[in-house]
Amino acid sequence: MPDKIQLTIDNRPIEAEPGTTVLDAALAADLYIPHLCHHPDLDPVGVCRLCMVEVEGGRPAIACRTPVAQDMVIRTTGPQIDQIRRVSVELLIVNHRDDCLSCAQNNSCELQRIATYVGVDQQRLDRLRRTPAQRDVDTSNPFFDLDHSKCVLCGICVRTCGDLQGVSAIDFNYRGFDTKVGTFGDRAITESVCESCGECVVRCPVGALAPKDYVQPTREVKTVCTYCGVGCGMHMGVRGDRVVNVRGDRDNPANRGSLCVKGRFGYSFIHHPERLTGPLIRKDGELVEADWDEALDLIADRFAQHKGETFAAMTSAKCTNEENYLIQKLSRVVMGTNNVDHCARL
Ligand code: FES
Repeated sequence: MPDKIQLTIDNRPIEAEPGTTVLDAALAADLYIPHLCHHPDLDPVGVCRLCMVEVEGGRPAIACRTPVAQDMVIRTTGPQIDQIRRVSVELLIVNHRDDCLSCAQNNSCELQRIATYVGVDQQRLDRLRRTPAQRDVDTSNPFFDLDHSKCVLCGICVRTCGDLQGVSAIDFNYRGFDTKVGTFGDRAITESVCESCGECVVRCPVGALAPKDYVQPTREVKTVCTYCGVGCGMHMGVRGDRVVNVRGDRDNPANRGSLCVKGRFGYSFIHHPERLTGPLIRKDGELVEADWDEALDLIADRFAQHKGETFAAMTSAKCTNEENYLIQKLSRVVMGTNNVDHCARL
């Protein structure tokens, strides 16, 4: 292992792995440097310019693209840096819809956080805000909306879709002031190759990509997705006794925070009034509710009638390894057949 790099950020000695950037080293040491286009899952592109720092000697540099070097001395604030940052933030804000209080991202918006950090001048903002930044909202996706008037063009969604998901449903459309994130041919998202995984939505640092009907959870429950055999880890957001959202568990080795459309958005069945919560038995051609004792007695009777080759067991990827093991054991030892199959093989 190469030796660690020693550097100083804001008079604080820091140790960093070789190859990391100044921004990563600062964040790892709990030192905040404003950043909008940086995401730890993506390669840095350095487009927002908000992570500007001063390298000793007064040279400004973008922290997200500057690798750490031995004995480097960094200052994250200073008259020149502060001025660059403030102007950059103000130019973003004047083109951004100002409905923060009703925005799904309120209080967890990076732009809001940076504006508070740099201390923008409200009077200057009012002067700069000449034309109302009203742009269309793409509401075609059943799970999330894309509000162009809140987009800061950081490109995190575009890079997530292309570099991480390999789908490339969205990119930058048009040029200059008209630039916006959109689909090929600027069609509705549902007319693109978007798979609705929502990976762009969870990474959006502002409220441009936001889940529909967002409800703030009051607590989270760590669990495992029930949809398939991958076993993705997730945190279910709960408010009262209802699940109101889902986010991936970044510590789970199966998915490292990623989820598919079903895992992320397909939880409405939990509270669906037609959800099956008990066994049904067919009587005179009709399915009628039964209790578990009655249902299990019926199953045992039928099993007794169908020992041997007339019996087959079909198991599921949703079961645990142990449950699948027990089913094959029951089939072979009790039912006397090797007719065992599994939905994941089909
Ligand atoms: Fe470095 Fe945007 S975070 S330029």
